[in-house]
Amino acid sequence: MQYVIYESAKEIGDAAGKIFVNVVKQKSDAAIGFATGATPLPTYSYMISEYEKGNVSFKGITTFNLDEYCDIPKDHKSSFYAFMVDNLFSKIDVKPENINFLDGNASNSEAESRRYADAISKAGGIDIQFLGIGRNGHIGFNEPAEAFTDESFKVKLTDSTIEANSVYFSDIAMPRYAITMGIGSIMKARKIVFVATGESKAEAVRDMIKGEVTPKCPASVLQRHGDVTIFLDKAAASLL
Ligand code: PGA
Repeated sequence: MQYVIYESAKEIGDAAGKIFVNVVKQKSDAAIGFATGATPLPTYSYMISEYEKGNVSFKGITTFNLDEYCDIPKDHKSSFYAFMVDNLFSKIDVKPENINFLDGNASNSEAESRRYADAISKAGGIDIQFLGIGRNGHIGFNEPAEAFTDESFKVKLTDSTIEANSVYFSDIAMPRYAITMGIGSIMKARKIVFVATGESKAEAVRDMIKGEVTPKCPASVLQRHGDVTIFLDKAAASLL
């Protein structure tokens, strides 16, 4: 797999953000897959600054986020929905009705998975997907497992993920379950922009790029995708 190493997360954000902006400039009704966490923030900052400069409009796009926690209200301040509103959606001109999320409180997760897959196909499929990686090699919330997953599903989070994400929960305990797009749904995106920064990701990045394709490192499946752009900082690339 090819990858590019940058000095700083800011430079990665500018480079990754340019790819998203160019997709939207070429296809104003693009369907975009977004991710949460610290990794995408510089990319989102770049997209916001291009919007503020009048260089791009996001009013035609449709968005699909990778995952959402179960058992907390959608508008709880630690939900991924709230994260996206705070860090991107409230700062650009995306139409609220074009924002799509998996419902972490759906009573029937299989029906919810079908609903999301239908919405993605109605939007014409995801044109470009942002992906980060967990310390354990997860993408979305596809935790290390015995088999690759397909469409969206409800997942029990691992201790590693709970430890990494607990910092975002101050008033309530972090949920133990989430609903996530599956590996199959992620792999259908036409284009993937993958970003990893920081030493805590170095082992997962090595396993993803140099290791065998295995559901024990879910990100390794990206070796089989034909259009992945990988941006790393020096720390994340330190074991390559
Ligand atoms: P992070 O999370 O960007 O906050 O490190 C990435 C992930 O868990 O996929």
